[in-house]
Formats: sequence, C-alpha cells, structure tokens
Amino acid sequence: MVSNYINLIDLNDHPVEWWNKIIALGSKIADNPNEYAHKCDGKIMATLFYEPSTRTQMSFQAAMLRLGGTIIGFDNPATSSVAKGENLKDTTKIVSSYADIMVMRHPLEGSAKAAALTAECPIINAGDGGHLHPTQTLTDMLTLSKEKGRLNNLTIGLCGDLKNGRTVHSMIKALTCYKNNKFVLISTNELKVPSYIKDILIASGSEFEEVTSIEEVIGKLDILYMTRIQRERFTSNEEYLAQKDVYRLDHAKMLKAKKDMIVLHPLPRVDEIDIDVDNDPRAMYFKQAKYGMYVRMALIITMLESQGVSNLLVGRTLTGNVCTNPNCITHKEQYLPKSFRGNGDMLECEYCDERYLQKM
Ligand code: NCD
Repeated sequence: MVSNYINLIDLNDHPVEWWNKIIALGSKIADNPNEYAHKCDGKIMATLFYEPSTRTQMSFQAAMLRLGGTIIGFDNPATSSVAKGENLKDTTKIVSSYADIMVMRHPLEGSAKAAALTAECPIINAGDGGHLHPTQTLTDMLTLSKEKGRLNNLTIGLCGDLKNGRTVHSMIKALTCYKNNKFVLISTNELKVPSYIKDILIASGSEFEEVTSIEEVIGKLDILYMTRIQRERFTSNEEYLAQKDVYRLDHAKMLKAKKDMIVLHPLPRVDEIDIDVDNDPRAMYFKQAKYGMYVRMALIITMLESQGVSNLLVGRTLTGNVCTNPNCITHKEQYLPKSFRGNGDMLECEYCDERYLQKM
C-alpha cells in the first residue's frame, strides 16, 4: 500500500542524505531563525497528541509559528471525538484533510504508519508507543553535529530504559548508519534493547557491548545519553519500582568522564540525572531541547516542499497471523490490514517491527 505523500514514520525509510540535509538546514536556522520567518506563511499544521508531551508538542508548534504558519489540534484525546469512540482512521483522515502537515503521538506502536494509510497530508511520527521517535533523533543529531562537530567516530553510551525507550531505538537505528560509531548499552537485564534493535547493531557491523554499570564505562564515552525509566510502558508498578532508581548520574560519576564528553537526555528527567549535573558545562540536555525546535523547523520546510509517493506496506498479508506484540496498533484498530515482512518461518510486523514465528 502506498501513501500519496512523503511521510516521516521511521528515519530509516529515508536515505542518510535526507537526514543530513535536514540537520544542515536546522543548523542554519539555529544560527539565523528570523530569515525563515515567512517560509510557511498560510500553511496549517495539525498536532494530534494522544499521549502526554511538553517538548515535542511545543517545539513543533513553536517551529510552525516561527515559520509563519498556524496550528490546530488536540493534546488531550478526552476532549475530542476520540472520547466518543472514534477510531484512529476517521480522526486522522478528517484532521489531515484540514491541514497541510500532521504531527501525531500515540501510545500504540505502529500508529503513525496506520494513520498514514488513509491520511490526506504528510504525517510525522512524534512517538508511537515504545517503538520509534524519529524527530527526537533528528534533534539528537543536530545537537551532536553542533556540539561535537560530527556524527561518526563516536563512542555513545545509552543508559536506562533501553527496552521501552523509543528515542534509544531511533537513535541506534540512525547512528549505526555513520562510520565507526561504537555503542555502549548500559541497562539492567530486564531493560535491554529489543532483539530487533540488537539485530540492526549486528547487521551494521558496529561495535557494541552491553554492560550494567555507568562507572565501569563512563571514562571512554564521547556521549552519555541518559533516559527515563518509561513507567507508562510497564505492566505492573512493582516491576517499575524495581527499576526506577538503578541509575543516577551525579557529580562523582562525571569526575570520571572525559573533559569533552557531553550528556544528552531527551527529557523529561525524573531522578536519573542529579540536579547538580545541570551546572556542568558538559550537560547539554537543555540546549538539546532548543535544537529540537530548529530541527523541526527544518523538517517542516523540507516536508512541505517534498512531493511524491511512499511505500507503507510492502509485505504479505497472511490470514491467521496476528502480531504478537500486545501494544501493536493492529490489535486496537482491527480494520487495519495485517502485513508482515520476512521469509520462511520468521515474520516481522510491518507496523511495529515485532518478530515472531509464523503459525503454520
Ligand atoms: C521522550 C519521549 O516522549 O519518548 N521525550 C521526548 O519526546 N522529548 C522521552 C521520554 O518520555 O522519556
């Protein structure tokens, strides 16, 4: 199935040159935002946030307003017709027909792709459950290129909830595409990266290791990417409580880090970075959030100027097979055509990337 638009559902749907162009434009905008003040005059952006957000939603809205455009949308589905039981297809089809571009965040994995199947304007995935968050990765990459001067030859530590952290998944998928990046995955056994992300690391040939302590590795890192334990993705509060205070970056740990290591965090922070670290010049997370607005300005300009079609579902529809991921959008929105990539016994859901053995 194809879409009549160029969407941003997964960064890896686009070539690396496309990302680089957006980052380069984001960098120019950050240096001189006023030059772009009328780039989107008369355009409307819809923001549909089915899940809480501060930075992503507001930076998108500020980005469009700074470009001269206007915004519509909701940030609380309870005050829209979603509360009356409207399905995702109807809501997104209608709202997309009112707007020139639509940004959507949703708690279920694969929701952005599902919306793009019937949308009437380009869609940007602003986070689909624990799956992906491509515009956070553009933010992270603009920060790296501004603050480290490169996207390759980096030793990147990612710490915290690597299982449910969608920013981590998108970042690994992107940074494995640049030469000589090494990944140090710091998590408990329970919160390791999903197997499909590990397969991407292996297939890319990137060096990576999985460790459980920050202290043991902090000295060799160029980047430390801290993340919040994603409470809302846990099935029980007990499981969350067992994970919540395992990692905390503090001044003592920062003493062991390189002088030019930078600390990133997509935010919001809970307890995983001590407030004292904010005063360390290597703490880059507030600046990173600001870069997010500039890179989203670049993304909106680029997408509004792009024309073309894109493939959404290229795999096979197999009767009798349903995705085994309970958080996949195909369970809630049952009208969606189920579609799988893969040969032989191993299938991969085209919405959420979950892998499982085919039913015979
Ligand atoms: C992240 C998200 O929503 O995935 N936040 C963000 O977009 N800046 C990270 C998080 O919620 O922990």
